[in-house]
Amino acid sequence: MQQMTPSDISPTAASQAADAFELFRHSYERARRVNALVPELDAEHEARLRRRVERAFRHGGMSATRGGRLRGFMVASPAFDFRGLVATLVPEYGHAVAPGEEAALYPLLYAAVAERLAQAGAQLHLFGHLAADAGVREALYGLGFGAIVCERLRDLSDLQVGARAAVPTGRVEHASQEHSWDEFATLAAEHAAYYRASPLFLHKDDTLEAAREDLEEHRQAGDQLFVYRDGATPLAYLIVGRCSGASEGRLLEGTATAQIRSAYAVPEARRSGIGTVLLQHAVAWAREGGFERLFVEHETANLHGGPFWRQHFEAFALFSLRYVEAP
Ligand SMILES: CC(C)(COP(=O)(O)OP(=O)(O)OC[C@H]1O[C@@H](n2cnc3c(N)ncnc32)[C@H](O)[C@@H]1OP(=O)(O)O)[C@@H](O)C(=O)NCCC(=O)NCCS
Repeated sequence: MQQMTPSDISPTAASQAADAFELFRHSYERARRVNALVPELDAEHEARLRRRVERAFRHGGMSATRGGRLRGFMVASPAFDFRGLVATLVPEYGHAVAPGEEAALYPLLYAAVAERLAQAGAQLHLFGHLAADAGVREALYGLGFGAIVCERLRDLSDLQVGARAAVPTGRVEHASQEHSWDEFATLAAEHAAYYRASPLFLHKDDTLEAAREDLEEHRQAGDQLFVYRDGATPLAYLIVGRCSGASEGRLLEGTATAQIRSAYAVPEARRSGIGTVLLQHAVAWAREGGFERLFVEHETANLHGGPFWRQHFEAFALFSLRYVEAP
């Protein structure tokens, strides 16, 4: 195979979007072969993802061509604020290369795209990629990226709740959607504060007011809240709803996918099976609601939530991050 050189890399043209989608389709189908829970590319879903690739192309990016044929592409979003810096994202559907060309093409495409990103002042480069694409992951790691968020899927089969040595003795309630969820604001604020600690260092608004607003948004959106109580005291909760695919799970938009929106157990109550019992309620709710799969996303540096979700879900997509100094 003839080696690609930087001279084979040029700005994308809108007319390449259809070929780019075909390259992306290849990666998507590969991800589906690895994880059967990845939604089928039926006509509707394909049309949705095709539109996403076309929209991404409007921002313009870089393409790799050989003998007039598209071998790879990479397009990044317009700049936005992220963790106090200017960032851009190459979305999950904003890149693909011909199979086997990851090691050769990702560095060339990224170097060309990063040049533009740096000119636009973007110092945080985010990259969404399919977990099944080991070649992409390796190429990104070599370029200085590290994972920050993992998106996972699970089927709606029951969890092995009774198989645990200790089964929690409190009770789980399905919170009414008719009344305010303010009662859970203290727990929700504690959850927001949890992310400040090492090694997450994420600053979320952990005031009671913000927690109330957040819970109210979930309630208004039709999400469901399951709470675990020991006596009258709520010790843990889990919120589940439909996955909209707006900002998370974008490759799942429009599919029959439920999403874990939030989950928290107070430190003293952890590792005694409460999370598992709450998750079982979410699975049963999703199954009864006609959903086909359950989705969750978590910080990869979440030392409590990460292993918990890993126990029950399969990785599907990853988001990786790289910081660069201003040119
Ligand atoms: C995620 C969370 C709700 C799980 O609740 P939990 O009641 O502790 O979970 P369970 O006791 O049912 O754990 C079930 C299994 O998950 C895995 N697991 C859970 N927490 C773990 C941890 N800290 N380290 C390693 N494995 C863990 C274990 O396999 C565990 O089984 P085991 O205890 O028999 O080994 C709880 O850890 C929590 O509140 N974390 C902080 C907030 C958070 O991370 N929320 C999720 C945001 S994405």
